[in-house]
Amino acid sequence: MTKTIKKKVSSTNDLARQLAKKGAKEGDCVVSESQTAGRGRLQRKWLSKPGNLYLSLILRPKILASCLSQLTFVSALAVSKTLEKYINQKPQLKWPNDVLVDGKKISGILLESETENERVEFVIVGVGINVNQKQFPQYIENATSLYQILHKEMNVDDVLNDFLKSFEEWYLLFQKEGFSFIKEMWEKQHFLKGRMVEIKDGKKKVKGTVMGLNDQGALIIKNANEDVLPIYSGDLLWS
Ligand code: BTN
Repeated sequence: MTKTIKKKVSSTNDLARQLAKKGAKEGDCVVSESQTAGRGRLQRKWLSKPGNLYLSLILRPKILASCLSQLTFVSALAVSKTLEKYINQKPQLKWPNDVLVDGKKISGILLESETENERVEFVIVGVGINVNQKQFPQYIENATSLYQILHKEMNVDDVLNDFLKSFEEWYLLFQKEGFSFIKEMWEKQHFLKGRMVEIKDGKKKVKGTVMGLNDQGALIIKNANEDVLPIYSGDLLWS
């Protein structure tokens, strides 16, 4: 496993993609102390000042492109297990890719891939964990960091190594037991189960009660007409 460590990059996902195109192996990763153009889902910016973890893992899984989002849940469980060790409580998982503590986001995951029809060339699993962020700018609502929870600085390399170990364990479990096992584990920590939510996808809005995940990793909700709908993308809001 090759670790590429940088002080500053535009986005670790970009550098990981370049390395993957040049033949980087499964498990190779890119870590940077900061990012000048860190990004999140739905074209959002990801705050990327020094002191936090910014990591992109290169994977070459033998799965169909239509199953790729399953890896988001594998990654979220790995982040959750990593954090559990520091905070002595189970984080909450929010569909599709957030890890929260006390309802506040501490980590986000951004999966990007190169595919040809159903064939997966490679996947980049981008993970950001707020480690030593003391305060968040006002435009970032509902975020937290290990520092805000524990009131002390943590070593980012320790968090990185714990995450890599945890990811390997969950990835092996995924390969051995399949997605149904991951789905079951993820649903146990999904804090919106049974709650009324709204999913915004561009101009489209859907309201309903959260039932769980389907086999592709879509969120299943039941609307007021009792229709059961799979939701494949969007922003989940709850009250
Ligand atoms: C999200 O919650 O919207 C996903 C955030 C993912 C952020 C990480 S930080 C490392 C990697 N590089 C990026 O530019 N983004 C991901």
